[in-house]
Parts: sequence; structure tokens; C-alpha cells
Amino acid sequence: MVANRRGKISQLNARFFGARDTFQDDLRAARERDPAAHSTSEILLYQGLHAVWLHRVAHGLYLREHRFSARLISQISRFLTGIEIHPGARIGRGLFIDHGMGVVIGETTEIGDDVTLYQGVTLGGTGKQGGKRHPTVGDRVIVGTGAQVLGPLVIGHDAKIGAGAIVVKDVPPETTVVGNPGRPVMISGTRVAGPDIEHARLPDPVAESLETLTRRVTELEHHADPAQRGPGQVDPASNGNSANRSAHAEAREIPTSGEG
Ligand SMILES: CC(C)(COP(=O)(O)OP(=O)(O)OC[C@H]1O[C@@H](n2cnc3c(N)ncnc32)[C@H](O)[C@@H]1OP(=O)(O)O)[C@@H](O)C(=O)NCCC(=O)NCCS
Repeated sequence: MVANRRGKISQLNARFFGARDTFQDDLRAARERDPAAHSTSEILLYQGLHAVWLHRVAHGLYLREHRFSARLISQISRFLTGIEIHPGARIGRGLFIDHGMGVVIGETTEIGDDVTLYQGVTLGGTGKQGGKRHPTVGDRVIVGTGAQVLGPLVIGHDAKIGAGAIVVKDVPPETTVVGNPGRPVMISGTRVAGPDIEHARLPDPVAESLETLTRRVTELEHHADPAQRGPGQVDPASNGNSANRSAHAEAREIPTSGEG
């Protein structure tokens, strides 16, 4: 009887100190990763920290099958912080949610240790399927503001997801991914060569189609009206390969104005 009681007390002790260490790690994470933090008392006001701590309580209840109370705490936390973490999500030590507002973390999400999330991040599913449907995020991963990480994919340790990226495929460890769809720009500190796109002059498919059509009409008009062909020019539709080619080449250079 006494041994039983002692066993229970030491179990409670272990749980208490384990929880205390985890909560301290969350505090340390905010202190280390927020350059704007000046003191511990200031950090205690962060809603990102409140959301993570409330989630740890909710997750404990969820694991003990107290699903309603778990969900209630999660909803209260969402109301107070603007951060929605499903009580089923498994979150490692030292999660730092900076600014927080608009973060959504789905039920089957798994997050490693020392991960940083910024405001507006979604770790979500792609549809209504059941089972494991949310991301698994490795240790020390950074997910930039507004990034959407969707589906049961794996983000490797030390990866960085750029602000505003949409990621629907696995990301290898130590890789930086940006854009939509997310593409790697950095692997283990080395830049990945990408297509040379001048962002200020992106292609305009509608203008290109119109230009092609105008050129084609000019060519056809030129072929149809022998008066417009210069001396020595052969109807390209007839024969004479080299003559055909020069007629085509000239036709491309004829301005469209004043014709037809
Ligand atoms: C993705 C990120 C981690 C990359 O940082 P980095 O390792 O220093 O890499 P660089 O800044 O050298 O960027 C590498 C390339 O990706 C591009 N890039 C960087 N971030 C990008 C983004 N979010 N979206 C699109 N392209 C991006 C850069 O322009 C650069 O392209 P280039 O090679 O053509 O010049 C960082 O830009 C980022 O988005 N961090 C999130 C920070 C955040 O959310 N802060 C919120 C504070 S409130």
C-alpha cells in the first residue's frame, strides 16, 4: 500500500518536473529567437507562448481521451490568441510561434524540437481525407509568415520554408524552399541554380498570342495579293524552296499598318 502510494507520488513528480522543463524550453525558445524580446516578463505576455502552453494542457487531456475538455481548451486558446492548434497535434520542445495570429495546426501534425512558426502559417491537410493528413515537421525548422504546408509530407530537419510559400511535397533536410509551388533555392548553404527569370518582365501569354496572330494574318494577306510581292518574289504557296523562305522572311518584316 505504502509502496503503491510512493510509486504514484514519484510518477506525479516525474510528470510535474517533465512538464516544468517543457514549459521552460518554450520560454527559452522565445527568449533566444525573438530579437525584440527584452525580458522574461515581456515574453510572458506573448500570445504565441500562451497558445503553446494551453495546447500542452489540451494535448494531455486529448491523450487521456477527454476529447471535449481538450477541444474546449483549444477553442478558448484560439479565441484568446488567434492561434488554432488541434489538441491532437504532437508538438516537441521549444516551439516558438512569433506574432501568432492566424496560425493553424491540424490534428495529425507532428512538430519536432525548436521549431519556429510565424504568423499566418498553416500546417494543414489538402482535403477531407482521414488518417495522417497533416505535415511532419523536423527539428529546428523555420516556417515563414503566411506559408502553407499542406498534406502528410515531411519537412526535414533544419529546413526553412520562405514567407508565403505553398509546400505540397516533402522538403529534404537543410533545404530552403520558396514560392508557389515551393521550390528549393538553397541546399545545405549552397544556392540552387534556377531558371533565369527577370521578374519585372514576366511573359504575357495573351500579348504573345495576339502578336502571333497578327503576324500570321500579315503573311496570309501577303500571299493572297500578288501586287504586294516585290519583283522576283515567288508565291510561297507555289514552289521554290529558297524563294519560299525569303518570301516568308520578308513577310515577317512587313508592318501591319496600312494593309488590308
Ligand atoms: C526563405 C528565407 C528563410 C530565405 O532566407 P536566406 O536563407 O537568407 O536566403 P536568401 O535571402 O539569400 O534568398 C535566396 C533566394 O530566395 C529568394 N527568396 C527569399 N525569400 C523568399 C520568399 N519568401 N519568397 C520568394 N522568394 C524568396 C531570394 O530573393 C533569393 O533569390 P535569388 O537567389 O534569385 O536572389 C527568408 O527569405 C524568409 O522568407 N524567411 C521568413 C521570415 C519571416 O517570415 N519573417 C516574418 C517576420 S514578422
